[in-house]
Amino acid sequence: MRSIVPDYLAELMQECSDVTGGAPADYIPELARVDRALFGIALTTADGRTYTSGDADTLFTIQSISKAFVYAMAIRDRGLPEVLERIDVEPSGEAFNELSLERNSKRPLNPMINAGALTAHSLVGAPNDPPERWVELILEGLSEFAGRELDVDQRVFASEMQHAHRNLAIAHMLRSYDMLTADPEAVVGGYTRQCAVRVTTRDLSVMAATLANGGTNPITGRQVVTPEVVQQTLSVMLTCGMYDSAGDWITTVGIPAKSGVGGGILGALPGQFGVATFSPPLDEHGNSVRGVAAFERLSHEMGMHLM
Ligand code: DON
Repeated sequence: MRSIVPDYLAELMQECSDVTGGAPADYIPELARVDRALFGIALTTADGRTYTSGDADTLFTIQSISKAFVYAMAIRDRGLPEVLERIDVEPSGEAFNELSLERNSKRPLNPMINAGALTAHSLVGAPNDPPERWVELILEGLSEFAGRELDVDQRVFASEMQHAHRNLAIAHMLRSYDMLTADPEAVVGGYTRQCAVRVTTRDLSVMAATLANGGTNPITGRQVVTPEVVQQTLSVMLTCGMYDSAGDWITTVGIPAKSGVGGGILGALPGQFGVATFSPPLDEHGNSVRGVAAFERLSHEMGMHLM
């Protein structure tokens, strides 16, 4: 009995190992150096059992997957009405690094694209907290979701900062509309650190399981956010987590998920489990090619689709 899930995960990896194509992100030079053959899967149940296969303990950077958790922290700290005043919840249908703003209010369309994530980053903590404090709180929060102390990959951080023109442009534009009230350069610096937090596939599965378990980490038993915050976060993950392939994802996989250009994807099935994959080559949307294939199979074979 004990080996059914690990055997299944190993088989799934085997079946997806002939999926080729894609390329590691190269707009962050340090990410282009990664071993593209790395492949890991992990599943953590809502009652705290973890199963893994492949390179599930290899460290990589969380990148955009952090956006879902930082959105949850912003709601925890400022309340949903204040967050909604600054960040909408509509799918953008555009790439993650477009300046997709709601036409009238000039709010970023959702918290999963860079424009919304930069804004969410600045809403963590109390209104007068300095930018250094946001990064501290975010590291603490991500660590609580993962159930262990996480840290920042300084090389990836420095590498992305040298090429952060796009995010700086987005942040300055948001500042011009007063969606950001802080110094845009400080926001981009903090957000880039947030994206460079190092995790394993196992960590991501625990973070996802914490969402699946209504905001309480099933391994440490600590409540990180409330079920109301989780409901908002998972809803936005379902509609916006996979960017301009969100429609494909909902129809084929059908579970709330979030991807990152480090090669990770996580998904959370409420009340059941969190799953994560890691494989660096990405498709044109910035989503891991093998990760998407593994989630499609997993959802189909295990009947995970919400509908
Ligand atoms: O801001 C960026 O462009 C990166 N730090 C994160 C982008 C990302 O992970 C998009 N996801 N697939």
